[in-house]
Amino acid sequence: MDIELRCLSRAQAAVRNGARAGVTSRGGHLGAREPPSDTNPRDGARRVDFRGKLYVAPLTTVGNLPFRRVCVGLGADVTISEMAMASNVLKGDRGEWALLRRHPSEKLFGAQVCGGWPDLLARCGELLDDELDCDFVDVNMGCPIDGVCAKGAGSSLLRDAEGVARMERVVRAASRSMRRAPLTIKLRMGYDDDPSKHVAHEIVARAKSWGAHAVTLHGRTRQQRYSRAADWAYVERCAAAARETSTPLIGNGDVFSSADYERHMSSGSLATCMIGRGALIKPWVLTEIKERRVWDISARERLDLFERFGAFGLEHWGADEKGVETTRRFMLEWMSYTHRYVPVGLLERGVSQTMALRPPAYVGRSDLETLLASDKTEDWRRVARMFLGPEAPGFRFVPKHRSNSYSAACDAAAAARGVGGGGGEEEEDDGEEEEEEENG
Ligand SMILES: Cc1cc2nc3c(=O)[nH]c(=O)nc-3n(C[C@H](O)[C@H](O)[C@H](O)COP(=O)(O)O)c2cc1C
Repeated sequence: MDIELRCLSRAQAAVRNGARAGVTSRGGHLGAREPPSDTNPRDGARRVDFRGKLYVAPLTTVGNLPFRRVCVGLGADVTISEMAMASNVLKGDRGEWALLRRHPSEKLFGAQVCGGWPDLLARCGELLDDELDCDFVDVNMGCPIDGVCAKGAGSSLLRDAEGVARMERVVRAASRSMRRAPLTIKLRMGYDDDPSKHVAHEIVARAKSWGAHAVTLHGRTRQQRYSRAADWAYVERCAAAARETSTPLIGNGDVFSSADYERHMSSGSLATCMIGRGALIKPWVLTEIKERRVWDISARERLDLFERFGAFGLEHWGADEKGVETTRRFMLEWMSYTHRYVPVGLLERGVSQTMALRPPAYVGRSDLETLLASDKTEDWRRVARMFLGPEAPGFRFVPKHRSNSYSAACDAAAAARGVGGGGGEEEEDDGEEEEEEENG
């Protein structure tokens, strides 16, 4: 592929220097060597047991290390990095490597990468396996970003038989190149909305024989993005296929409460559920699931979570001017989700909030609760100033994920797609779109 490799693992460098008998040339350019042979026995491979563990989804930008630390404190068992592009990892891009950093409190930690070619993923897998502190490596094969799909990665691998055949080669090559960390894959149901074109059930049935240790399935298609609820009936169908081959399947989509988690786990077919936006909007959903209860959290307790994030952010990004501003920006990004929470104590008996709920403006039980429900960036900035002090002169903030602007913009976008606005429609720009800019 002619991607210059500036980053080699110690093992790869040793091989390049001729330390391994019989192998003479592996440095230089990607694709310069033969694909890995079939003989790698993965002798020392670790197993990861996902069963019943609370797994916080990979979340570009917002799923940063300080946020994940907050989640660990609230009950997360499994955490995973933001998505890094495999090609940038191999180029030794510092920003990309920074995305893959783990905090010691992250007990079971995965590194997520994205790429669509066997030699690329084999090299990247080997490098991460040798050099990175992680328990497993996940390949994002559901990423909907146009730029990612155009490069043959993400959900383009779900598009047709040719895509799935390349996915098989990617999984085989990457899993063989990793001796220590297991490889997992993350899928959507398919590329197109047409149910006859859904392919995840076929992949789930074969993934283990290719070398995947576990599969995560987000119950939506690429075309659908976030419109309509996740299709848990299809996830169940895949769980049956996974059971046949003893492949751990992790279900994903719209888990927002302990009741949601229990319902999806009740058939006994899933290893666990992955929690994405639920953890962003109300990270204490992790505690709710763990303790099988509903937590009517107070505004003060919610404020404490921001305080904790602020402290972790300054530790991670630095307490100098730059670190404070970085912490502030990421705190504000997070608030573009948290304000969507409707306190359970304000809901009528028997009513529970769902992911798609678009709450009208309401008055909370205290001024602080009202403030935390505001969808105005001005108010979020006020909250952030409580912990981080005054902003630098000229500070501006526009949320990357725009989940705050769901009213008019969302309805317009939904109408344009002919899927009906309001209620059931999550905005398309789930962050993965924004990521396109970040990852090129
Ligand atoms: C802001 C944001 C960023 C995301 N970033 C990633 C990512 O980097 N890698 C990935 O595999 N999925 C990513 N996703 C998708 C989630 O991991 C998850 O599959 C999806 O949100 C469905 O789960 P949920 O309904 O619980 O949110 C992202 C989603 C959101 C909302």
